[in-house]
Amino acid sequence: MTGRGKSIVLIGFMGAGKSSVGRRLAQLTELPRFDTDEMIAEDFGVSVAQIFAKHGEKAFRDAETRMLRRLRRGSGTIIATGGGIVLRPENVELLKKLGCVVHLDVDEETLFGRLMRGPARPLIQTENLRAIMKKLLSERAPLYLAAADIVLRTSPFTQQEVASAILWRMQILRNESR
Ligand code: S3P
Repeated sequence: MTGRGKSIVLIGFMGAGKSSVGRRLAQLTELPRFDTDEMIAEDFGVSVAQIFAKHGEKAFRDAETRMLRRLRRGSGTIIATGGGIVLRPENVELLKKLGCVVHLDVDEETLFGRLMRGPARPLIQTENLRAIMKKLLSERAPLYLAAADIVLRTSPFTQQEVASAILWRMQILRNESR
């Protein structure tokens, strides 16, 4: 990971816990936290769901790339991303430049439960949540895997445990590359 930034970048499917783990990591490390969905919503002045409804998915995806370009490589930060950030190869390159990319890998059943209960998300406004989830997961699983420096199976663990595990794994990576 030489030549890369010092940030911790969280990727993973909707409901994987990227935003909450990002908050925990920011508390533990006292590093500034960024969340691409929040940055985009702030930029447009409306929610992500409204951006999809009013401007369409392409406008949202363009904004994701714009936000990644805006994030600086030099200093360490915690960056949580949206579940579709890995769809564009250009984004993956930008993520890798920012630092260590961590995939929060959650099993399908757990994701399904969280998405059923969680807030409305534009891409899964559907009667058939299970089928659409399966489709998106099978398209994206290889992309998360290819982008990640660290993969963490997080399902049985609390956000605090996941955050601590990330810091521990990063320490091991650093020691190995010395
Ligand atoms: C998306 C995931 C969402 C948000 C947008 C699109 C996706 O973020 O970026 O609704 O394509 O998977 P979360 O992963 O935080 O839900």
